[in-house]
Amino acid sequence: MKSMTNIDAFGHVRGESLFIDDIVIKQNSLFALVFDSPKAHGIIKHLEISKAEKIEDVIKIFTYKDIPGENQIGGLLPDEPLLAENEVHFAGQPIALIIATSEKSAKKARSIIEIEIDELPIITGAKEAAAKDQFINAPRTVSLGNADKAFNNCEYVFEDDVFTNGQEHLYLETQGAYVEPMENGNIKITSSTQGPTQVQKAIAKVLGIGMHKIEVDVIRLGGGFGGKEDQATPWAALAALATYHLKKPVKLILSRHDDLRMTGKRHPYESNFKIGLSKDLKIIAFEAAFYQNSGAAADLSPAIAERTLFHATNSYFIENVKTTVYSCKTNLPPNTAFRGFGGPQGMFVIEAAIAKAAHEIGVSSKEIQEVNLLQENDELSFGQIMTQVEAANVWRSAMRQFDFKQLSQEVATFNKKSSDFKKGIALMPICFGISFTNTPMNHARALVHVYQDGSIGISTGAVEMGQGVNTKLLQIAAHSFSINPDNIKLETTNTTRVANTSPSAASSTADLNGKALLKACVAILTRLKKVAAKELEVKEQEISIQNEWVYVKEIKSSLSWKDLILKAMIARVALSENAHYATPIIHYDKTIEKGHPFAYHVYGTAIITSTVDCIRGNYTFESVKIVHDYGKSMSKGIDLGQVEGALAQGIGWMTMEEIAYDEQGILLSNALSTYKIPDIFSVAQDIEVLPLETQGNEMAVLKSKAVGEPPLMYGIGAYFAIQNAIQAFNPYYKLKFHAPMTPEKVLMGLYQY
Ligand code: MTE
Ligand code: HPA
Ligand code: MOS
Repeated sequence: MKSMTNIDAFGHVRGESLFIDDIVIKQNSLFALVFDSPKAHGIIKHLEISKAEKIEDVIKIFTYKDIPGENQIGGLLPDEPLLAENEVHFAGQPIALIIATSEKSAKKARSIIEIEIDELPIITGAKEAAAKDQFINAPRTVSLGNADKAFNNCEYVFEDDVFTNGQEHLYLETQGAYVEPMENGNIKITSSTQGPTQVQKAIAKVLGIGMHKIEVDVIRLGGGFGGKEDQATPWAALAALATYHLKKPVKLILSRHDDLRMTGKRHPYESNFKIGLSKDLKIIAFEAAFYQNSGAAADLSPAIAERTLFHATNSYFIENVKTTVYSCKTNLPPNTAFRGFGGPQGMFVIEAAIAKAAHEIGVSSKEIQEVNLLQENDELSFGQIMTQVEAANVWRSAMRQFDFKQLSQEVATFNKKSSDFKKGIALMPICFGISFTNTPMNHARALVHVYQDGSIGISTGAVEMGQGVNTKLLQIAAHSFSINPDNIKLETTNTTRVANTSPSAASSTADLNGKALLKACVAILTRLKKVAAKELEVKEQEISIQNEWVYVKEIKSSLSWKDLILKAMIARVALSENAHYATPIIHYDKTIEKGHPFAYHVYGTAIITSTVDCIRGNYTFESVKIVHDYGKSMSKGIDLGQVEGALAQGIGWMTMEEIAYDEQGILLSNALSTYKIPDIFSVAQDIEVLPLETQGNEMAVLKSKAVGEPPLMYGIGAYFAIQNAIQAFNPYYKLKFHAPMTPEKVLMGLYQY
């Protein structure tokens, strides 16, 4: 298929693409500002809003008492109020909503709202919560073989603790929504959400009205990264609450400060592992306990915990596994989806276990990784039998194409000569499962209209958030009909055109919506071919459409695409189609924790080299070399962008992005001056990504594999590349697995004895 430039590229660079804040608002629109809890835990004794309500231009201040339906927005579990009632559970929790004719007045009102809170004990750590029996739900254990017994037969057994910190999404566009009253009490919401149906459902519940009265429209997102899968909902619901009462349009956009303070992030994890190996370095047994810092409400935590379990052995086959995850309730904002969805946290632990074992045994991590890679028909701990396994292929391909031997020799030679700088090298294989782990979510719909002039409009449940899904969908339609992409339009994502959608997430958006779209295109084409066959008096099977022209037995006929559509109109043939696709094969049984939850897996291997400044403790990455399994990529540029972007985000998470809350549960890293994200200099100067040459996978749309999340986990290699350099400098360094590996931690490692 012909590759295509992202259809949004032109609009983006010219500043013409529309985001929530670019919508031309109606004259009588009001502005909303959220008043949130200054304390992480306590009982609200008194809330004084009357003075603030008297400020000029302030129209109204809403509290939970104004909610006509249920004060409940929990997606998985009903444990999250839209507005706090008597108790607050995290600093940043919405308590009241200020509505004013100007943003300035709303801010003034917020500054004089008084609140008295009787403070309760605050928990900020996952294990701390577990010790106090504070959980979101029951723990879950996935096991294979008998790990307890198998440890007795191991030549080597090692244990350690692991910590990975959270991560701020930092989507360029902060959370927001614009809500308009329509006729007859209907409400239209333009939202920056990955999950329009989620928003529609929550608002219907909060307002106590049917979903049919709520229309959610999504133009595009200025990034989501998981942060808008569930957490775009409260802001849309709050604005809708105001519109419901005031019958006026309301705009609510969080300032960056408010967004950082009020929204959840990637889950920090505190974990323990125990790994057992044979003499020849086969991993015989692996045990891990994951303590997920879920925050103050469930949000998506249980689903994220599940994916951690499903990725706990990464790209390796381990015969005896026992992994348990605890979703721990703390007084932080509810943590949420973030690219990888718990997978990265799981994968870091097994890589840490391998690094520890390698260090103690006196071999390189590579030697352990290599002999344990997944092979065809291996079983993962949760029962999925692996087929079309590319683990060894991507590994070998990386070794060969990037000459790993040469690279590691260069590192060794450099380290012999240099004392103030040391280099390190690490390999990071990945194996990431594609599909929502929750089987019922794996379906999608598409609505295609062929207009009577031959141009086409497409609606699906897919949300464009920068990942390029609209371009891929456009390619699919252009390819199916063989018409010029300029004659196709991707409509906004709208709940009235395509209903009951799963969020755009799990890297599955193009697969699910693309497959539904393919079905719709095929259905229309089948009808059109009938029309053409009748018109040209030939057999249907002889008809094809090529470049907007009808061909018979590969010979150009007299009938153009446009003429064909007109003939079809006259013959009263339906030119629209609504199709549905549900992923076949997948299933999972939680009662026995076994099944086949993933349609397929995405594989890859990264080689990362680092240079550590052993005087200062800072570091750079010299190169990242990746062989990635795209299947048969349909959009090479977009897919490369996804790999590079995810890699940068992964490196940021592992090395510099440090979320800090104080003991009172107050966010300290509350601005970009205190929360460092990677820039162009933080990722390697030399990034090379080569495709694994494969036939692709039938379960992927047009065999083009999902690419959104998997490459983030290449970033895990950055941690170990730095650690490897520290080891070269300091023979007394005791390996620590505490991410991010900030320069401060590097310095302490360099001079530890
Ligand atoms: N790329 C950009 N530019 N912006 C984003 O918000 N989100 C990521 C990934 N790539 C994201 C992105 C996440 S978390 C997911 S799940 C997928 O894109 C979602 O889109 P897909 O299903 O089309 O891959
Ligand atoms: N991935 C991403 N988002 C999700 C999932 C998943 O597996 N399940 C529910 N939401
Ligand atoms: Mo992505 S974390 O599944 O939105």
